[in-house]
Amino acid sequence: MSPAHPFDRKIKIAPSILSADFANFGAECEAIEAQGADWVHVDVMDGHFVPNITFGAATCAAIRKHIKGVMDVHLMISPVDPYLDGFAQAGADVITAHVEAGPHIHRTLQAIRAHGVKAGVALNPGTPADAVADLLDMVDLVCVMTVNPGFGGQKFIASQIAKIRKLRSMIGDRPIHIEIDGGVDPATAPLVAQAGADVLVAGSAVFRGGSVTTPEVYGDNIRTIRAAAEGTYT
Ligand code: DX5
Ligand code: ZN
Repeated sequence: MSPAHPFDRKIKIAPSILSADFANFGAECEAIEAQGADWVHVDVMDGHFVPNITFGAATCAAIRKHIKGVMDVHLMISPVDPYLDGFAQAGADVITAHVEAGPHIHRTLQAIRAHGVKAGVALNPGTPADAVADLLDMVDLVCVMTVNPGFGGQKFIASQIAKIRKLRSMIGDRPIHIEIDGGVDPATAPLVAQAGADVLVAGSAVFRGGSVTTPEVYGDNIRTIRAAAEGTYT
């Protein structure tokens, strides 16, 4: 990460605003950060690469003003390259593109870094860890999808644990985050943390039961997931 966000492997909870109130993103981002979120995870979907549409760079630019920490932009779009400039200009700290989104993921990752943004590469559940073997010296984050991307609230795909473990070993000492996206909750968080993940995206498990008028519920949910991942149920 940038000097403002130095690299570490401590557990980081990254609530996905896919589960937030879409009419109130600014207040939702402020609420989750105040309640202990480490990163804010922003899911961009195009209705083509995935069977759902969310929003684009203009929305990211608008919510950037309400995020003090890391804005983690997950692009579930194809093509990717024509839109990178917009997401970089919007103030993304991390931009993650899917290895399956086109034939030129290497070029995409080069372009992300050329914008001065941290580069992430995401793997769908059906894509093996080896697909990123030749990319590890040009990424800051590998995102393992533990659901098929497109929707929040899906069931965690347990077969991905072995992939996380393999990636952790492939990464070695490189300063690369392993992010897990999909079905993370207090039951699955310890499994992915033990396998080597450090960034845990959680949508429904963070926003469930809360709102901007009852943000303490977000705080309870974040603390419970973090404690589970750190192995100290409280
Ligand atoms: C899925 C998105 C995820 C999603 C996770 O395509 O990339 O970030 O919001 O949602 P939960 O935590 O509800 O599985
Ligand atoms: Zn995501």
